[in-house]
Amino acid sequence: MSARSPPSRLKVMNFLNEVAADYPKAISFASGRPAQQFFDVDDWWEAPARFQRHYAEQMGIDTTQAGRLIMQYGRTAGLINTLIAEQLGNDDGVRCQPDQVVVTTGCQEAMALCIRALCASPEDVLLVRDPTYIGATGAADLFGVEVVPLSSAGEDDLCDELREVVTRLAANGRRARALYLIPEFDNPTGRVLTTRCRARLIELCAQTRIAVLEDNPYGMFRFEGESGPTMWTLDHEGVVIYLATYSKTLCPAVRVGCAVVPERLLGDGDGGRELVATLSERKSFLTVNASQTNQAMLGGVLLDSGGSLRRRVGPAIAFYRRNRDVLVDSLERAFGADPRCRWNVPEGGFFLTLQLPFRFLEEDLVACASRYGVIPMPMSYFSFSRANDRIVRLAFSNNDPDAISEGVNRLARFVAERKQEQADEVA
Ligand SMILES: Cc1ncc(COP(=O)(O)O)c(C=O)c1O
Repeated sequence: MSARSPPSRLKVMNFLNEVAADYPKAISFASGRPAQQFFDVDDWWEAPARFQRHYAEQMGIDTTQAGRLIMQYGRTAGLINTLIAEQLGNDDGVRCQPDQVVVTTGCQEAMALCIRALCASPEDVLLVRDPTYIGATGAADLFGVEVVPLSSAGEDDLCDELREVVTRLAANGRRARALYLIPEFDNPTGRVLTTRCRARLIELCAQTRIAVLEDNPYGMFRFEGESGPTMWTLDHEGVVIYLATYSKTLCPAVRVGCAVVPERLLGDGDGGRELVATLSERKSFLTVNASQTNQAMLGGVLLDSGGSLRRRVGPAIAFYRRNRDVLVDSLERAFGADPRCRWNVPEGGFFLTLQLPFRFLEEDLVACASRYGVIPMPMSYFSFSRANDRIVRLAFSNNDPDAISEGVNRLARFVAERKQEQADEVA
């Protein structure tokens, strides 16, 4: 069914890292790293002590004892669940109790645990949009879970396709168990799902008993327009499991994320509690618990932020908005005259996509990096279909404006060369 096999997906990240290491001077649009000038390094080193004092107070013990407990092995489901629940409630409308939260080693672990727990039998299938984030499909590959892509770009078509795919799978003895989505500023496309579509998908998934994995690393980074409600907020059926991370809002090195499980999972009164127990059980054999020293760091930052990260991410949002604008202006200057080149203008997030007049594959990536000093991300790395081979993803989060415009100039020289080659072949 898929044009690309799991082994080729699993090799992608290594290959990309190798290219970046081989051409360190190349301007990279490939990585969705957050801009590191916004890491508040001094504050981070003070944060664990702040959390230690808080924890001592909370537990009714002295700070030395609290510090020792933090540095011990800890509770598998997490140490700072209350602070995380408060922040997610305030910032994302994810109202939940601390015991609905499983704190994980980054969102990646939450994603992997949920996919494995929900798709436990050989006939169980994970649904994703095509293209989608390779972290989710890669995790499914790791566990041998079959991934079925939904290729519709339009929202109405997407809902129809979901229904058709579920029926087709059932006719073949398979069961769609989970749907992985990034509804706000999707990676890799930058797309946003409308509220209407989110609600419709929840309804469809409730009817067909499919859990939605709502992954929301970029939702906080909106540059203009109004954010709609998260799917968690819209869900009254216990369909949505919310996946969160602090990698983009604060810093990736902290490696803390979480899964938030609805109380009545798919309408089952015990389902939520049981899934939390299953995730914790499995996690205990993977990472035992998410590093408590890192949780203490994050806890200290959350305490200092008054239960919301909105104000803290303000300067980063302004930087990313400017980068988005510089990238869009540069694309207009470089490619505006060619109607075969098209790009989207996302209202937030870290990425946009650029369609080129030719397929852009691995050998093009190497040519771009080695001869032109620029690294775009081929969409083929995220996609199941060759239909997306003409598209590249451009991340605008991790370069300064000058590098972005120079990077686009370099890409434009590569594109001009390829177009010339195409013209020569025709002549
Ligand atoms: C959509 C998406 N989900 C999850 C992650 C990974 O999050 P973490 O660093 O918390 O593992 C990323 C990172 O790029 C991402 O783009």
